[in-house]
Amino acid sequence: MAVTVKRRSTTEDDITAEALRRIEGTPDPRLRRVMLGLVKHLHAFVKEVELTESEWFEGIKFLTATGQKCTDIRQEFILLSDTLGVSMVVDLINHRKPEGATESTVFGPFHRDGAPEMAAGGNIAPKDQKGLPTLIRGRVLDLEGRPIAGAILDVWQADSHGLYDSQNPNSEELHMRGKFRTDKDGGFVVRTTLPVAYTIPTDGPVGDMLKATGRHPWRPAHTHFVVSAPGFEPVTTHLFESTDKYLDSDTVFGVKDSLICEFARHETADAAAKQFGVAAPYYTADFDFVLKPAMAPAGAVR
Ligand SMILES: [Fe+2]
Repeated sequence: MAVTVKRRSTTEDDITAEALRRIEGTPDPRLRRVMLGLVKHLHAFVKEVELTESEWFEGIKFLTATGQKCTDIRQEFILLSDTLGVSMVVDLINHRKPEGATESTVFGPFHRDGAPEMAAGGNIAPKDQKGLPTLIRGRVLDLEGRPIAGAILDVWQADSHGLYDSQNPNSEELHMRGKFRTDKDGGFVVRTTLPVAYTIPTDGPVGDMLKATGRHPWRPAHTHFVVSAPGFEPVTTHLFESTDKYLDSDTVFGVKDSLICEFARHETADAAAKQFGVAAPYYTADFDFVLKPAMAPAGAVR
């Protein structure tokens, strides 16, 4: 008499099918979709490249080192996501803006909480003596072009050496960071130094990955902003300096045409320079941020 023996998983595709089957019962529907997609594509990747055991272990070591490189002020996983283009794909999926709203870009790994609130024209770069004085000014507007008073601009930037404060091993002090509140006309003025191109940190696993794949680590000169106001969707973005040679090859894929801004050079101290105590030569960048309404229902606390 024939005995029926239960067939075990024996091929690559059997394992994939069984792994997916075991996830299908995930109670949360969103988590179920994400996990099914993740396992499906991870298995497909391994099969496509016919991953060797040593390559698999190298991958484990790489991810382990990436986690071990992270500290309170260094986020190597964000850097990895950024340099693989994943952050910008997530950004584009999640921020499909209506025509006219300021576009978003990567948050990046260098934001820090606790930036001080400053008055209009406040200098975020008091210790950057070699930097070229710069005023970034404009208004925060709604989609109809009406000014938004009381909007907050959280600003951060690398100094003229291309370094963020968190990259200084000898100091935990905040520098090149500030929060600015728009006036009744939606206006703001940030005093900083001219942003410069910089390399992302290359002394960790992400740097090794860039080197192994023949890529440069440069980001075009930019200033970071998160602009927010009650009743509006906040936007995380940059302003990019328009003459930078890395605009077309940003190592984190963050450049969008609408965020490229001219930083105009002034050889003499005009009224704006005098008002904010800026010595010539100095630069100005004029940019209006446009926010779209929040998705939250009217009256919801944000
Ligand atoms: Fe940056």
